[in-house]
Amino acid sequence: MDRVRTGIPGLDDVLGGGFVKGSLVLLTGTTGTGKTILASQYIYNGLARYKENCVYVSFEERAEDIKRNMLNFGWDFEQYERAGKLIFVKYDPFHMEDIYGLIENQIRNVGAKRVVLDSITGLGLNIRDPSDLRAAIFNLGRILKKLGCTAIFTSETPSDNHMMLSRYGVEEYVADDLIVLYYIPVGTEFRRAITVWKMRGSEHSKKIHPFRITEKGVTVYPHEETALKLERG
Ligand SMILES: Nc1ncnc2c1ncn2[C@@H]1O[C@H](COP(=O)(O)OP(=O)(O)OP(=O)(O)O)[C@@H](O)[C@H]1O
Ligand SMILES: [Mg+2]
Repeated sequence: MDRVRTGIPGLDDVLGGGFVKGSLVLLTGTTGTGKTILASQYIYNGLARYKENCVYVSFEERAEDIKRNMLNFGWDFEQYERAGKLIFVKYDPFHMEDIYGLIENQIRNVGAKRVVLDSITGLGLNIRDPSDLRAAIFNLGRILKKLGCTAIFTSETPSDNHMMLSRYGVEEYVADDLIVLYYIPVGTEFRRAITVWKMRGSEHSKKIHPFRITEKGVTVYPHEETALKLERG
């Protein structure tokens, strides 16, 4: 099976080698859990280490803001944009009908193999019926698969219920893989943890692993596990 390595320390071990090529990965977690950083690291490693072109679509934060923040980790995205290897854009998710064509064009323009949509939760604001949102995510996924991309969609979870995997309760069903990030108070500090909730067609770790965000970005500890007291409310 072809694997797409994230290059994120420890994460590929947890994933049994990396994402399965062509899969649609949903990365969920409440605000501040590290979704944008992890997704950016996947893209940056793709460009810098694996020589794969990429598209990053932000639906909320301005592209300039994300790019500036990622410089803190030493990830300079603009050099890759100038070289025609990366498209890093912000779209307002108000015109869903246009999104499919726009994203497909961007992917074709740079021949992208890695794609990030951050975050798809905003799409739901303009789609009233959850089954329509499910169809929209499915359609986006179908386009990405057709183009041979391996994609991360981020999505936000409510902070008060750790067993809820997405805002609208449909996002996780459309994805091939589901990775959940946690940020939980334990004693007097917050603890970060990550788990692979599902991974279609692959063996993977079922443990909850600690991870850190440092000046190098995300590091996952595949040989350590963390007990989270998952409380409701
Ligand atoms: N340079 C850094 N070094 C260490 N930790 C950092 C650094 N920059 C950001 N962080 C941590 O990462 C968190 C933000 O991560 P990120 O923006 O990826 O979260 P997110 O899940 O995308 O949040 P949101 O849902 O609001 O978009 C910050 O709250 C901070 O704790
Ligand atoms: Mg974010």
